[in-house]
Amino acid sequence: MIRLGILGSGFGSNMQAILDAIQNGELEAEIVIVLSDVPDAYILKRAERAGLPSGVIDCRGLSSKFPEEAQRETADILSQAGVELICLAGFMRLLRPPLLSAFPGRIINIHPSLLPNFPGLCAWTQAVEAGAHESGCTVHYVDAGMDTGTIIAQASVPVLPDDTPDRLHARIQEEEHKLYPAAIAQIAVKLERE
Ligand code: GAR
Repeated sequence: MIRLGILGSGFGSNMQAILDAIQNGELEAEIVIVLSDVPDAYILKRAERAGLPSGVIDCRGLSSKFPEEAQRETADILSQAGVELICLAGFMRLLRPPLLSAFPGRIINIHPSLLPNFPGLCAWTQAVEAGAHESGCTVHYVDAGMDTGTIIAQASVPVLPDDTPDRLHARIQEEEHKLYPAAIAQIAVKLERE
């Protein structure tokens, strides 16, 4: 059974969807650790409630950078936990070589747009402001760029004429919660064959 490490900065609904899929028997996997760079993030409360090991990544008071030392510490924690696949779930810092090179081809992310459209922050707001008729979500491998890694799976949703960014994000998240566990299941099979 594949051992997952989850990294998130916020609400943790994608982490919850992964956990629910595991508990429902839809995904054969185990979440072995949940880490957040935000000490009071709700994702950590969810982890605690579910009895999952969790911890805080110390980013040395920096608001958006992921310091090299913190990346090294994170890689060590994940390695010690025996993590085989790192799933970013609303993790809002860019990963760099210390962490990327410790888990080559084993870090994935979910992004709330149809990449390569609307990379970066608040992709749902970008889609509404651009007047897009369609958006969605993408699961992709993580590289050192901003939402640039190889695409694994996508799901689309319509952007409706009266959409607010929040309404569109809610519609995208419904798809994220199905797409992410399904993509992890697909990758787990692939990694088992390697
Ligand atoms: C999700 O919509 C995810 O796609 C997005 O943050 C949200 C986290 O929600 N991630 C990004 O924008 C990364 N570039 P959650 O904490 O409820 O899972």
